Amino acid sequence: MARLPVSLQSLVIQCMALLLATLLNFLLQIPFSYQPALWQLVLVQGAIAAALSFLWRQPAWWPPLHFGFLPAILLALQASVPAWVYLAAFLLLVLFYWSSFRTRVPLYLSDRKAWQAVASLLPATQTFRFIDLGSGLGGVSFYLAQRFPQGRFYGTETAPAPWLISRLRAGFKRSRVTFMRRDYATLDLADFDVVFAFLSPAAMPDLWRQAQAQMRSGSLFVSLSFPVEGRLPDREVSLADGARHTLYAWRM
Ligand SMILES: C[S@@+](CC[C@H](N)C(=O)[O-])C[C@H]1O[C@@H](n2cnc3c(N)ncnc32)[C@H](O)[C@@H]1O
Repeated sequence: MARLPVSLQSLVIQCMALLLATLLNFLLQIPFSYQPALWQLVLVQGAIAAALSFLWRQPAWWPPLHFGFLPAILLALQASVPAWVYLAAFLLLVLFYWSSFRTRVPLYLSDRKAWQAVASLLPATQTFRFIDLGSGLGGVSFYLAQRFPQGRFYGTETAPAPWLISRLRAGFKRSRVTFMRRDYATLDLADFDVVFAFLSPAAMPDLWRQAQAQMRSGSLFVSLSFPVEGRLPDREVSLADGARHTLYAWRM
């Protein structure tokens, strides 16, 4: 169970909670002949799902999501939300989260504190080529490009909506950052002096193999929040708000 992607775990949890809530409803009816209202059943299902999510040690934001999932559907049904709204919401999610199901790397953004820590690792005067693997909305590269005029900055992103937004932002800002819509696995990391990644634990083993095979000796591999199992970093920068936000750097 723990090895399943979190999305599949969640599907199993929702189904189990539905079964358990139905069973509980059935068992309560025998001695008490009590017929709960639909919203009561839905709340019990949510509470069971949240408890299962907690027991399976899913990330902290999942139990509240599980609790609210079925109640939200019930509310939407009662509010008679038109079908196209669901379709639009689904398409929006697809455009933003694209291949997260396969890569197990969703979109979430790093903050200024992290960008400042990355900046502290970059050469002050030498020229260099920097790439953000999975560049999201482009924040890292925009910030660094302003501060390192001698650097060349690139971002690569598979999800269409974040990529488009970063291209548009680059246009409005007249930024010199180049954004590509490519899977980083298809790139040659030997083209870069600094490779930055803020991905997920699931992505790190393959990415580390790629970095080791391709990156030139002396270049820098930087990962925000996610270490490489069994490989101590050469530098570790703690970003004040906990271990989730640590910057790890390896000199290749
Ligand atoms: C956690 S976000 C980080 C965004 C940005 N780097 C930042 O620091 O704000 C990870 C991004 O990587 C993208 N991604 C995941 N796998 C990818 C791949 N194989 N190639 C390119 N982008 C990928 C996801 O779509 C997501 O936008």
